[in-house]
Amino acid sequence: MALVIPYARLQSLFLDETLLAWFEKSARDLPWRRTRDPYAIFVSEVMLQQTQVERVVPRYVAWLERWPTIDALASASPADVIREWQGLGYNRRALNLHRAARVVSERGWPDDLTELPGVGRYTADAIRSFALGEPLLPVDTNVRRVQDRTRHAFGPASGQALMDLGGTVCLARVPRCGVCPLAATCPSRGMRYEPLRRQSRFEGSFRQRRAHVLRLVAERPRAAAELDADAVTSLAADGLVACDGELVALPG
Ligand code: ADE
Repeated sequence: MALVIPYARLQSLFLDETLLAWFEKSARDLPWRRTRDPYAIFVSEVMLQQTQVERVVPRYVAWLERWPTIDALASASPADVIREWQGLGYNRRALNLHRAARVVSERGWPDDLTELPGVGRYTADAIRSFALGEPLLPVDTNVRRVQDRTRHAFGPASGQALMDLGGTVCLARVPRCGVCPLAATCPSRGMRYEPLRRQSRFEGSFRQRRAHVLRLVAERPRAAAELDADAVTSLAADGLVACDGELVALPG
């Protein structure tokens, strides 16, 4: 019997292969790609939420040197974890990572990883795919963008490649179609895009005020009267600082 493969299906297979051939030549050498340790992948994915790859690399390496295992991280104090996170931004990520480490250290990894503090669908899928080798595609904003533009459902093997393509070629506003391996069949080739949602300005923001207070308190406990009261209230509500009478300090 003749084997009939619909043309669209053939083209679909080809797109994954084209992407993977490009990735073989162009893959970024990122430290979390050299491990399948679920804890290390977890750390990398939490850091990579809202922080650029180049900034994450040295911090990821330092973090794993300091706390090489999830038990080591679980034994750390929240204060040390917050200090080590300084400069990466969105500090609640650090506290959630630490809380998750304590849960895993005590009870092991849950079957449903989204039960862990701060772990959503994407992070859970990234750990399952990149560490545990499960055949699923973690979909973050970069991956979704490439899928939307190419109108192609990529397979699980294409996860890391899609992250590189989305992060370096198929950029949000001005895609670099001239160097894109998928341009030949891409229905969105040559299009330009308005910024969907600019990351809100840091300078002069409340986020900056919080970061400033947290930096001061990370150096040493401070009198509340010296500090921006609204920022202290907000940091305390997130568990990033603790107020003891007139003194504001890191927790734990
Ligand atoms: N962004 C989120 N996860 C990533 C990964 N594993 N590699 C590169 N960029 C990423």
